[in-house]
Amino acid sequence: MKNRVCVVTGGNAGIGKAIVQALAAQQAQVVVVSRDRTRGDTAVQDICQSLPNAHVELVVGDLGTIATTRQLAHTLLDRYPAIHVLINNAGIWPTKKQLNADGLEQSFMVNHLAPFMLNRLLFERLKASAPARIVNVSAGLYVNGRVDLTKTPYGHDFHPIRTYASTKLCNVLCLPLETAQLAGSGVTLNAVHPGVINTDLGIMRGPLGWLMKLVKRSWRTPEQGAVAPVWLATAPEVASTHGQYFNEKDAITLAEVAQNAGLAQQLWQLSERLIESV
Ligand SMILES: NC(=O)c1ccc[n+]([C@@H]2O[C@H](COP(=O)([O-])OP(=O)(O)OC[C@H]3O[C@@H](n4cnc5c(N)ncnc54)[C@H](OP(=O)(O)O)[C@@H]3O)[C@@H](O)[C@H]2O)c1
Repeated sequence: MKNRVCVVTGGNAGIGKAIVQALAAQQAQVVVVSRDRTRGDTAVQDICQSLPNAHVELVVGDLGTIATTRQLAHTLLDRYPAIHVLINNAGIWPTKKQLNADGLEQSFMVNHLAPFMLNRLLFERLKASAPARIVNVSAGLYVNGRVDLTKTPYGHDFHPIRTYASTKLCNVLCLPLETAQLAGSGVTLNAVHPGVINTDLGIMRGPLGWLMKLVKRSWRTPEQGAVAPVWLATAPEVASTHGQYFNEKDAITLAEVAQNAGLAQQLWQLSERLIESV
């Protein structure tokens, strides 16, 4: 991966930090996107301490609103003349309803609209750097999602479990349409469920975090969660694989709930309208 520029959103913690570490160990130039400078700097320092020759850099960027996501894309375009890998890893599992400055439910923004935007805004740069790969870190829980376009984007049907699943469903619903758009460009796109991993996602960041920490001790490590995303981003055997959903390293067919082409089309149009409105 020498001389390959890899952008990892949410690269300061959990699975994302382990992805950065693994890519840096393969000598890639890795860009950690973190919304918080201190957390980002700490992660970069940790990684550079364990891998003294690592080429890891921080870009501060917040995927929490349309404007800040656009700003992040422009920063990346300004700083990196080539981008070979984009790993849309950042994600949130909110336990309470919170709207962002655009009036959008926060996990709809971070889990669906932000990667949708980055894929579009960075597409020409990825294409010019081809062969290039995009990996969307998805979640198997998408099967429990229920997307209602009059409610889900705005948190009208907020539920502490189902909302996360629904925003992850939004992300995989768009996979076939995004795949078709990228076809023949030299940029591949795949989505992956990384496994059930012991990180700070969701309730771990809330008041019951201490309880979940006990339960999650037996879960798999962030390093194990990074294996499949890194494999999709780097392995020669999946260099031309495009538009697939993976459960870890197994390519599987999306569940019926994610194969609603009409809903996907409407979500696509809504996502475009939302982006253009800001
Ligand atoms: N853990 C699991 O079992 C599991 C299972 C399936 C899928 N996933 C997916 O794996 C991905 C990584 O999750 P994780 O388990 O590693 O969770 P995590 O430890 O909570 O890490 C999430 C990362 O996303 C970043 N992030 C959140 N909101 C952001 C924003 N507005 N702008 C920029 N970055 C933001 C966080 O930054 P801060 O540190 O600043 O909050 C953090 O770096 C997510 O997409 C998640 O849905 C995880």
